[in-house]
Amino acid sequence: MSSRHPEFPEGAQVTGSFGMQDYVVSDGRSVPFRVVDSTLEPELLLGVLGGTGMTAYFGLLELGKPQPGETVVVSGAAGATGSVAGQIAKIQGCRVIGTAGSDEKCRWLVDTLGFDAAINYRTEDVGAALDRLCPGGIDIYFDNVGGDILDLCLARIATHARVVLCGGISRYNKTGPIPGPTNYFNLVYRRARMEGFIVLDYAARFPAAMAEMRGWIETGRLHQQVTVINGFRSLPKALIGLFEGVNTGKLMVKTN
Ligand SMILES: NC(=O)c1ccc[n+]([C@@H]2O[C@H](COP(=O)([O-])OP(=O)(O)OC[C@H]3O[C@@H](n4cnc5c(N)ncnc54)[C@H](OP(=O)(O)O)[C@@H]3O)[C@@H](O)[C@H]2O)c1
Repeated sequence: MSSRHPEFPEGAQVTGSFGMQDYVVSDGRSVPFRVVDSTLEPELLLGVLGGTGMTAYFGLLELGKPQPGETVVVSGAAGATGSVAGQIAKIQGCRVIGTAGSDEKCRWLVDTLGFDAAINYRTEDVGAALDRLCPGGIDIYFDNVGGDILDLCLARIATHARVVLCGGISRYNKTGPIPGPTNYFNLVYRRARMEGFIVLDYAARFPAAMAEMRGWIETGRLHQQVTVINGFRSLPKALIGLFEGVNTGKLMVKTN
């Protein structure tokens, strides 16, 4: 079957939320999707230039408002969103510290992505490491994980800090009431702001963001890393893998 829709010609490369399936039939409205540059590799379009890349871009720049010389902490830093948020903070001239779940990921953040430091939250005392690495406090905390790391960062925010609530993966599988961050009142003492966002609210600006990010990729300032799992039947395993930290960079499932 080939497309007869004028805006979606046969052979066009498209991206959208199609669910876990090999094929989809749409009249162009029933399933939201858009045509994307067919010269770009799918890995790039789904990764740095895809949803998580856009999340990093708008979360950091619009809510974090980074200034040169500021100290930025990113949790989930070796994942799809965190790795891009940290690199964009470096491009803005910030000092960037990431937290991640293995020594290998921490080395990758520093050696390949140019983070100033990384903390293995599974083996290190995160509070002590933050005290050592952020002596002047944290100006921006880009939160992908919530829980204890959010609380430890809230205790160390600088005056007029911005806490960007992107995600909270440490709480997604919890059942029952989840305790709030104990140190939230530091927002008052530090005249700081904590704000959440949903990337889709910025959809109209994705093309401009993609253009700027393509420039950074072409000049070698923004790196892409993907972890690919093969096979349609691996989809549930891959989803669970996000909670086990199987991925460095963007986790993708390739179905053929
Ligand atoms: N606000 C928005 O519009 C928006 C849009 C997209 C995504 N998000 C959120 O952004 C976050 C990152 O998403 P992503 O797609 O880029 O995923 P990701 O960071 O590529 O993968 C998830 C990572 O989270 C870490 N993790 C898992 N359980 C953890 C825990 N209990 N404590 C600390 N770290 C843990 C793992 O790395 P380690 O090895 O480091 O543990 C894992 O690799 C998610 O919370 C997601 O919901 C928000």
